[in-house]
Amino acid sequence: MATRNRWRLKPRLSDLANHNDLGKIPALLAQLRRSVIAEASLGAAILVIVGVMSITPPARHLQPDWPFSFRLDWSNLALSPDARFSLNTGGVLSIVGTVLLVFAVAVGRYRRWMVGVGAIILVVGGLIAGNAISIDAYPTTYMRPSAAYNAISVANGMLLYGDSCAVCHGVAGYGDGPAAADLKPKPADLTAQHAATHTAGDLYWWLSHGIKETAMPGFKESFSEDERWDLINFLRALSTAERARSLAPVTEADAWLVAPDFAYGTDRGESKTLKDHRGDKIVLLVLVSLPESRDRLEQLEKMAARLTSASVEIILVPSDAQGYRNAVDSAVSQLPVVTEGNDEIFKTFSLFNHSFETDRNSPEALLPKHTEFLIDKRGYIRARWIAKEGGGWLNIENLLQEIETLQNEKSQVPAPADHVH
Ligand code: HEC
Repeated sequence: MATRNRWRLKPRLSDLANHNDLGKIPALLAQLRRSVIAEASLGAAILVIVGVMSITPPARHLQPDWPFSFRLDWSNLALSPDARFSLNTGGVLSIVGTVLLVFAVAVGRYRRWMVGVGAIILVVGGLIAGNAISIDAYPTTYMRPSAAYNAISVANGMLLYGDSCAVCHGVAGYGDGPAAADLKPKPADLTAQHAATHTAGDLYWWLSHGIKETAMPGFKESFSEDERWDLINFLRALSTAERARSLAPVTEADAWLVAPDFAYGTDRGESKTLKDHRGDKIVLLVLVSLPESRDRLEQLEKMAARLTSASVEIILVPSDAQGYRNAVDSAVSQLPVVTEGNDEIFKTFSLFNHSFETDRNSPEALLPKHTEFLIDKRGYIRARWIAKEGGGWLNIENLLQEIETLQNEKSQVPAPADHVH
């Protein structure tokens, strides 16, 4: 607007004055006046907006409140073949509509008809395509969790899950609890990959308000906000755990399995968090269970110097710290052992302790024996060895080789966020 005022209207005005064409001046002057007023109003509006923003809390500190009952998400295409068809149809219609509109501008004839028809086709096409990738959304869809994704939260969620959800969804989350048989629709399989594509806020809405026209109840009254987020952290761990069954003693090229953070204290009086080792050390997390772990502990002890010099932090997590201390005489292991926080860490990482050989519904699945995880420097679990499956890192050279692979890799994947999304 300013450019127009300065470079178009003003020169024209002086032109008219120079050529003594005074009759046209009042109209041009009025135009210039309107334009200057509009420019000044826009400037004032910007000031008002900035003023309001300066006294509004920044969005980062507020929970977003999604106003629509839908949102657009490309992942919908992968779930339904119909959606892809609709998207293509809508896309073609939109292109036809756009072409008609362009023609209408370029060709003078039938302009009104072409604009009308083109606009209708464009809008209809847009709606069809939008509908194909739109999925249900709720006011809390983009809410940020108040509980970080860590072992305490996951273990707490696990406890609540066992008490309140397993009857329908089953102990291992497959949707096969004792109460499931009579329900229609059936309780959801919470280990399914698609459960991980809902936003944390979607899950929060369902946990709070239930799911309409199904048996899924709302838990707003029974669980606090933090407890519901704990459940969601547990659900996230549960569905990634299903995918984690493919982990092997050989490092996966993809870093995708986030190791839930944890704080721990050892019998040497150190207290640290897993995150403290980020960017610095590779972590060998060992779930210890006696007496199965005894021989392996001796072996690790002998190897400790070599592992440490390869900048590996060994974290031994017993299921029962007191029992461990009673059972392990100091001659067996000099390695520091986690005595604070071990319970939650053990429970949480036990979720990632199933291979395709374990039947996750068996009672034994809940009581894993000796297992080791390699966690890379950014906080992703990259390899796993389940002792009772034999082979693997029983030969410690294999373990050292995986460590070397991780040391040498140049990965671009950023470290995971503190909260689930
Ligand atoms: C009375 C049985 C029952 C109980 C108890 C129950 N659910 Fe459900 N839940 C269902 C049913 C049925 C569905 C499937 C609804 C559908 O098909 O849309 C469901 C769906 C869900 C979903 C949606 C999954 C998806 O991907 O669509 C989540 C998440 C969920 N439940 C979590 C929980 C949690 C966590 C608890 C415990 C706090 C719980 N449920 C307790 C019956 C139950």
